[in-house]
Amino acid sequence: MKYAITGSTGHFGLTAVENLVKEVGADNVVALARNEEKAKKLLPAGVEIRPGSYEDADELTASLKGIDRLLFVSSQPGGKVARLDQHRNVITAAQNAGVKFIAYTSFPHADQSDAPLAQDHKETEKIIAATGIDHAFLRNNWYVENEMSVIDAGAQGDAFVYSAAEGRAGWALERFYAEAAAKVVTLDAPKDVYEFAGASHTYADLADAVKAATGKIFTVNSITDAEYHQGLQDSGLDNATADLVTGFQTLIRDGNLDENTSDLPDVLGHALPSFTDSVKEVLAKKAN
Ligand SMILES: NC(=O)c1ccc[n+]([C@@H]2O[C@H](COP(=O)([O-])OP(=O)(O)OC[C@H]3O[C@@H](n4cnc5c(N)ncnc54)[C@H](OP(=O)(O)O)[C@@H]3O)[C@@H](O)[C@H]2O)c1
Repeated sequence: MKYAITGSTGHFGLTAVENLVKEVGADNVVALARNEEKAKKLLPAGVEIRPGSYEDADELTASLKGIDRLLFVSSQPGGKVARLDQHRNVITAAQNAGVKFIAYTSFPHADQSDAPLAQDHKETEKIIAATGIDHAFLRNNWYVENEMSVIDAGAQGDAFVYSAAEGRAGWALERFYAEAAAKVVTLDAPKDVYEFAGASHTYADLADAVKAATGKIFTVNSITDAEYHQGLQDSGLDNATADLVTGFQTLIRDGNLDENTSDLPDVLGHALPSFTDSVKEVLAKKAN
């Protein structure tokens, strides 16, 4: 059985490759990368590297020849080819190459979500389902790493600021989503949908976790979206980026990331670390 992973040079893809190698051995893993030189430097020995630009369906088709199961790591918005078109290329290529199973990294409750960030994922899920290829949608909740700037502010003793009010998210470390993705792609009978998340927490809980992890004392300010947006601009972000980042706060306040599922620890086969230990881990990683 041959397994392939797209986006293998990214944080998620690389961690997933490392986990998949542990599951099935390097001989059975093919890493797709748009930058093969970068891949050669990063990826574990023995993993075959093939070209994998999301922008080139023919190249992807050739690279997916002989692949049974594909871990399709979603691309990012903002490229010169629209993300949904990039995703169509991957799916068309998988179909043309005869791939038998696709695990796709999606967005929480993508099928029902009205959140702007969810729309490419919702469409991608529909396109995958329409191919008739067996699949699993890995609906990853928020990464703890997404909160690095506010975690770091608290760790420095600066104000911890948010506008998501009492909204909750199922934060977990990125490496656990990647470990779970590598597991699902090897399962004999995977579910169609996984809502992968850590325990549900508020930003006030996150501030407490930063205090517990660092022993620092800092102020915690729950402010409005407008104030939050202004603060981002004052710190040098352009208007569009400030809109995007403020949108994450709105998303959480509106309950889009509130989750109550054991899918992630169930697939991993182990519990997740506490919120405080997760915060300690991202701070330690930043320090190295
Ligand atoms: N749930 C969450 O909280 C959350 C947070 C962040 C991201 N995400 C999702 O997870 C995905 C992966 O995140 P990540 O942390 O691994 O991102 P990352 O570290 O920035 O890696 C992105 C990967 O995509 C590759 N890539 C970008 N454009 C490509 C293209 N046109 N063709 C082929 N490969 C391309 C990059 O290749 P190069 O190495 O050549 O640049 C890299 O391998 C994101 O795209 C996003 O959809 C989710």
